[in-house]
Amino acid sequence: MKGVILAGGTGSRLFPLTKVTNKHLLPVYDKPMIYYPLQTLTDAGIEDIMIVSGRGHAGHFLELLGSGADFGVHLTYEIQEKAGGIAQALSLAEDFADEGPVTVILGDNIFQDNVRADVGSFKSGARIFLKEVTDANRFGVAEIEGKSIISIEEKPKYPKSNLAVTGLYIYDFGVFDIIHTLKPSGRGELEITDVNNEYIRMGEMGFSLLHGYWSDAGTFESLFRASELARSMKNY
Ligand code: DAU
Repeated sequence: MKGVILAGGTGSRLFPLTKVTNKHLLPVYDKPMIYYPLQTLTDAGIEDIMIVSGRGHAGHFLELLGSGADFGVHLTYEIQEKAGGIAQALSLAEDFADEGPVTVILGDNIFQDNVRADVGSFKSGARIFLKEVTDANRFGVAEIEGKSIISIEEKPKYPKSNLAVTGLYIYDFGVFDIIHTLKPSGRGELEITDVNNEYIRMGEMGFSLLHGYWSDAGTFESLFRASELARSMKNY
């Protein structure tokens, strides 16, 4: 299994923190943000990882992470020219995936759970990871019926559940064909939620519930909370 960390985008919600640096290089407690998704992938047993970043600070990622040797992994870098959405950023990893499955993680997501078992047992289709939250309208929200997921809505005004779709996804190589069919959303992006709804439509989407802490870190409040979480995990 190969891994992809998506660290493009503009970080506009964290301005002016992101005026002269990249969101994923900001500190979350005692480490740069991107260390956390990298750790989640390495904890899952993934050793071949691509980092997709925007143009502005690509060199800083290289300086910080290098070949990956310090982390026991092999890193490859790719540039997303414009913030065209999460699915567009993922499309840049098609050659890297080389016909195989990929575990994809958003560069601003902090997880406590270890997903090694899900990665190890993945066969085909797609798998997402859901977490109960109190502010579901900030996320993709899953609607569940029995043991099946029947739809995902992106940032709904009136969420149908309190289950957020976290920024961790496992896809078979078919994901790239799906991305090629996508049209930009109202906000001009290729949406990962559209990719996931296509897997649901095909009856090929599985899901796992996360039990540990999870936070994104893309707003002032969530960045602050992520630091608190990281601190509490460390002192646990
Ligand atoms: O955090 C989980 C949520 O992430 C999910 O629940 C949503 O379904 C999903 O759409 C996403 O929502 P956000 O609005 O929080 O995504 P955001 O635009 O903040 O991007 C999150 C990360 O994705 C960002 O840290 C880097 C990567 N990204 C994003 C964009 C728009 C890219 O690499 N390229 C991009 O063009």
